[in-house]
Amino acid sequence: MKKGFAISVCALVLVFALVFALYTERNRGGVDSSPPGEAEKTDDLIVIGFSQVGAESDWRMANTKSMRETFTEANGYRLILKDAQQKQANQIDAIRDFVSQKVDYIVLAPVTEEGWDEALKEAKDAGIPFIVVDRMIKVSDQGLYTCWVGSDFRKEGDIAVAWMEKNFASADEVVIAHLQGNLGSSAQIGRTEGLQAGVDRNVNWKVAVRDSGDFTQVKGKEVMARILKQYDKIDVLYCENDNMAFGAMEAMDEAGWPYGASADIAIISFDATRGGLEATLAGKINYNVECNPLHGPRVESLIRQLEKGETPSKLAYVDEEAFDAATITRQSVDAREY
Ligand code: AHR
Repeated sequence: MKKGFAISVCALVLVFALVFALYTERNRGGVDSSPPGEAEKTDDLIVIGFSQVGAESDWRMANTKSMRETFTEANGYRLILKDAQQKQANQIDAIRDFVSQKVDYIVLAPVTEEGWDEALKEAKDAGIPFIVVDRMIKVSDQGLYTCWVGSDFRKEGDIAVAWMEKNFASADEVVIAHLQGNLGSSAQIGRTEGLQAGVDRNVNWKVAVRDSGDFTQVKGKEVMARILKQYDKIDVLYCENDNMAFGAMEAMDEAGWPYGASADIAIISFDATRGGLEATLAGKINYNVECNPLHGPRVESLIRQLEKGETPSKLAYVDEEAFDAATITRQSVDAREY
């Protein structure tokens, strides 16, 4: 009886060890949502290795969905998606893994702009076309990647600042709280540069506080709660994405600070997700600048061109609009796909 029990325990331990070893192997370089050995060619599907930043925001989830819905087997693709959990080291591991799996294309949504040279050289040496999507990268040689498609983040910042200049034209002083996205990402850099240019032009604008909420709702709330304890006057909350704005609004609700179109603190946000537009329509967010995440079909169009031997444009910027609480309609919220 005791011997039988010991054998069962050993068998269980062995099964757990085996499952753990398989799990660890599959998750090197981030979370891999594909079956093991997926890149091995057993058919004529085009194999795409996609290194995604993470799942930090509604924007990001919509972006992942767009990629998944585009790169399906029915459309002729096999997608290997690795979630880097907001860590560049995981993205570099993922690129190396895609190279060793000999995928047909590597697609990277980079967490930050800097630090890609070495990994991209390895992909280039292996002859794998490299597409960058969403944020931009800074590399020593532009030939290290094939092409890029994404947003003009600086322009987004400029659009937000133009709204501030129009709406605070008669103010003696504009005190700004600035919630930044993850530092070093193009989305943060461009939106911050836009605001900074506005501050440089308008002597009565003052950034009282600037901190990063990493593009997440939880961190946005945490940072805003801290800010509210330190300052008693804020005219504008310049928040670099909708999720951080949602978190900041939670903090303001809890602290009893009114905000939005009918209050003293105006909120500027970015992304214009469905949730962000609902908040804009409700007058909680004053102005919301779109950042469009539906890149799946855009990346696919680049791949189709490359498959035909064509040379796509090196850089492709997505057209984006902005929504003002004063003029937004229910129709435009309902039309939102993400
Ligand atoms: O790079 C796009 C940005 O990343 C979006 O504004 C943000 O929500 C996301 O996490």
